[in-house]
Amino acid sequence: MRLDIVSIFPEYLAPLELSLVGKAVRTGIVELAVHDLRQWTHDRHRTVDDTPYGGGAGMVMKPDPWGEALDALVPPGTAGDPVLLVMTPSGRRFDQALAAELAGERHLVVACGRYEGIDARVVEHARSRLRVLEVSLGDYVLNGGEAAALAITEAVVRLLPGVIGNPASLTEESHAAGHDGLLEYPVYTKPPSWRGLDVPPVLFSGHHGQIAAWRREQAVERTRQRRPDLLPSEYDPLVVARAVEA
Ligand code: ADE
Repeated sequence: MRLDIVSIFPEYLAPLELSLVGKAVRTGIVELAVHDLRQWTHDRHRTVDDTPYGGGAGMVMKPDPWGEALDALVPPGTAGDPVLLVMTPSGRRFDQALAAELAGERHLVVACGRYEGIDARVVEHARSRLRVLEVSLGDYVLNGGEAAALAITEAVVRLLPGVIGNPASLTEESHAAGHDGLLEYPVYTKPPSWRGLDVPPVLFSGHHGQIAAWRREQAVERTRQRRPDLLPSEYDPLVVARAVEA
């Protein structure tokens, strides 16, 4: 996968050199480039923002540097069907399903906005020649798109073949498609007793069926308590009660 990230704070993306994403870059699974938006400015102050038409607080990112950046990274007529991801709190909320979709792409260009956002004509123009997805990390406001770009890059890159040593860990974890959308069950390691707290005895039983049943029960209970919105309907007591009545 090729990944181009554009920001006025390229240093913000330095952690992508670390850990599994860094390794994916070094082994060639990901071809990553972080670009300073200011290289596409032409004035002495390398200006990327201006006051908003119509008034109001804050500044807006100028269209020209973004237009030039996108022309340089995706020259008109480029083959390969790249996707432009624009980080914005007004975008589609990022989730595991979107991470999985994006992991199937060959080329992602990630635009990190700052201030009150990017002049709306940038996305409008990009849509005329590219697939564009405005993406939000969640329902809260960050100072800019960089932290969202970090999170999204990590969530996508770890799904690429060869990035995670044991692919089984991808299917067992929270929000994974093969896990019914349940949260992950609690996990334990040695020692068996720690500060007066014991590991649940079933985990020492060696009985795989019982362990699997216990983990499933824990996952369902956790999901019911913490994220009832994620609970599949077959675990919803109302749905179960109606099915028994019928
Ligand atoms: N920029 C500011 N807030 C953001 C958010 N929640 N997601 C993506 N980009 C952002």
